[in-house]
Amino acid sequence: MKVLVWRGGSGGRFQEFEVPRQTSQTVLDVVTYIQRALDPTLAYRYACRVGMCGSCAMTVNGVPRWTCRTHVDKVLKDDAFSVAPLKNLPVIRDLVTDMREFFDKWARAKGQFTPTRTKQDDFQKVKPSSAARVRVDEGIECIGCGVCYSACDVVAWNPDYLGPAALNRAWTLVQDERDGGRLERLRAVAGDAGCHSCHTHMSCTERCPKSLSPTKSIAGLKKLVLNAAWKGEL
Ligand code: SF4
Ligand code: SF4
Ligand code: FES
Repeated sequence: MKVLVWRGGSGGRFQEFEVPRQTSQTVLDVVTYIQRALDPTLAYRYACRVGMCGSCAMTVNGVPRWTCRTHVDKVLKDDAFSVAPLKNLPVIRDLVTDMREFFDKWARAKGQFTPTRTKQDDFQKVKPSSAARVRVDEGIECIGCGVCYSACDVVAWNPDYLGPAALNRAWTLVQDERDGGRLERLRAVAGDAGCHSCHTHMSCTERCPKSLSPTKSIAGLKKLVLNAAWKGEL
């Protein structure tokens, strides 16, 4: 098959490679073959190869995907497909993007747990059946792959927008009864670049490889922010 691979930085170009077809071959297998057998200078990123670490996301035929769990069968058209770096992030080289602003936004959305107990205290248990725990059943499965961020048009229009993954993380923490940073977090996601910038396009939800719904998490945050503002807490 013919594989077009992005080379260079943001001003780069596609380079064509011929790769032998194999059964059960993933897009990551193809990129790895190219780097090992055809061009050792190709830069790309992966770690687990089993859909857990979130590091292998790339743009395949124009669509963001986790490449270790994307079978070639799914993307091959006329015996060809293309692979490029994720959109909405600076390109370091070839298929590698700089993820710093993606994770900096998790920090700006107060995506860190704020402890309320010390190491002298006993573990605080969260009942699996409690309403707040059930509300974040999906959201806590995020692997931080950046696929949703790359698919979001609002991120493309407004580079300050915190984006679906950081807001989903904030949503999981405001539902966590052990956390002590609720109001600070709601203030962090209430600004111009926060949850109210989401236009509910659903691209993040359509593309998330873990079938999560950041759109739903963001809708939940919008309600909490409005309630808090109504009560004069923000
Ligand atoms: S639903 Fe919101 S966060 Fe998700 S892609 Fe659309 S605008 Fe972006
Ligand atoms: S919400 Fe889904 S697409 Fe976005 S970073 Fe998490 S796992 Fe990836
Ligand atoms: S390599 Fe870890 S999710 Fe793909």
